[in-house]
Amino acid sequence: MAHVVTVLAFTGLTGTARAADNVRIGLMLPYSGTFADLGKNITNGFKLAIAEKGGKIAGRDVEFVTLDDESDPAKANENANKLIKRDKVDVLVGTVHSGVALTMARVARSAGIPMIIPNAGADELTGALCAPNIFRTSFSNWQAGYGVGALMAQKHKSAVALAWKYAAGDEQTAGFKEAFEKGGGKVLKHLTLPFPNTEFQPLLTEIASIKPEAAYTFVAGAAQVKLAKDYHAAGLRSRIPLYGAFITEGTLQAQGESAQGLLTVLHYADGLETPRNKSFIESYKKAYGGATPDVFAVQGYDAAQLYLVGLEAVEGDTSKRKEMLKAMENAKLDSPRGPLSFSKSHNPVQDMYIREARGNQNVMVGVAVKQLVDPSPECKMQ
Ligand code: BEZ
Repeated sequence: MAHVVTVLAFTGLTGTARAADNVRIGLMLPYSGTFADLGKNITNGFKLAIAEKGGKIAGRDVEFVTLDDESDPAKANENANKLIKRDKVDVLVGTVHSGVALTMARVARSAGIPMIIPNAGADELTGALCAPNIFRTSFSNWQAGYGVGALMAQKHKSAVALAWKYAAGDEQTAGFKEAFEKGGGKVLKHLTLPFPNTEFQPLLTEIASIKPEAAYTFVAGAAQVKLAKDYHAAGLRSRIPLYGAFITEGTLQAQGESAQGLLTVLHYADGLETPRNKSFIESYKKAYGGATPDVFAVQGYDAAQLYLVGLEAVEGDTSKRKEMLKAMENAKLDSPRGPLSFSKSHNPVQDMYIREARGNQNVMVGVAVKQLVDPSPECKMQ
């Protein structure tokens, strides 16, 4: 069951009372199920950026309304409407699951309310569904798959893909295939299983019998721990190297030996030796009892940074929506991942780092693609 928890983080208020002057931020994210940790880390990152501003945006106090979307597309319409119509949030922030985010974007588009997507990669969000009020601080699914395909093409000639059967799995696999085949590789088979199923065994047996040079995968969250362990236990690691974007993100401790040495490609890496990243990690650890941030925390942090740019440009006056959205569109963020700007379709333009799992870190060992832009041909901004 979805439930609404009102957190009045930086005000003295309790319950659902609302001070007229507060900026109300709706966080619609998964706080249960396989993506629960992703939702938590996005929330932590978002709140940290606001806390670093003294808990205020352009001089106004901030209220958070959080809602567990359960990664359930069937509940997304009702949940997004609750936040907008009942809770009257000023901005909708969410979510992780592509299918849920697609419905949220339709609701946000018709309400005209600003929406910032801190993870979900559905290509349409910054493609056919693009809109002046919809922004993404994470990646498009095409981008995430493309980065991995570019790396794998440098090393292998054939591969099998294994992915959840929904927008994220289909689109990331398509991005992977495009880059891999452009580099001379061949995808022998695209194996799928329903989200959030983790019955990998029959698919691993099939991979072993196809004997590709390598395997590409998209599953995420808690499920990726099981996949890495099952893959390792099946004896496939040494014979058919496993790659992906997310497969080791935030889960290295739980994966143990099964993930050591895995190569992944994402727009953030633990070992980025920039002063910005170092200060972000330090600040995050201090705020959250020593916890280390991952890409999801960075995406949440940057979602807040983007909103800050918009609201500060209008001195906190949310009624000046057009001016605010313009400022967000032109934002140049100092992100822990590196400088971050946005394409015409409001999707990040970013370097895709090659990372190697060593101990509990995804250490940066190179760049797969510099400043990767999703061309978003379907986006007609109006
Ligand atoms: C998605 O549904 O878009 C997604 C979920 C988890 C990680 C990456 C993408």
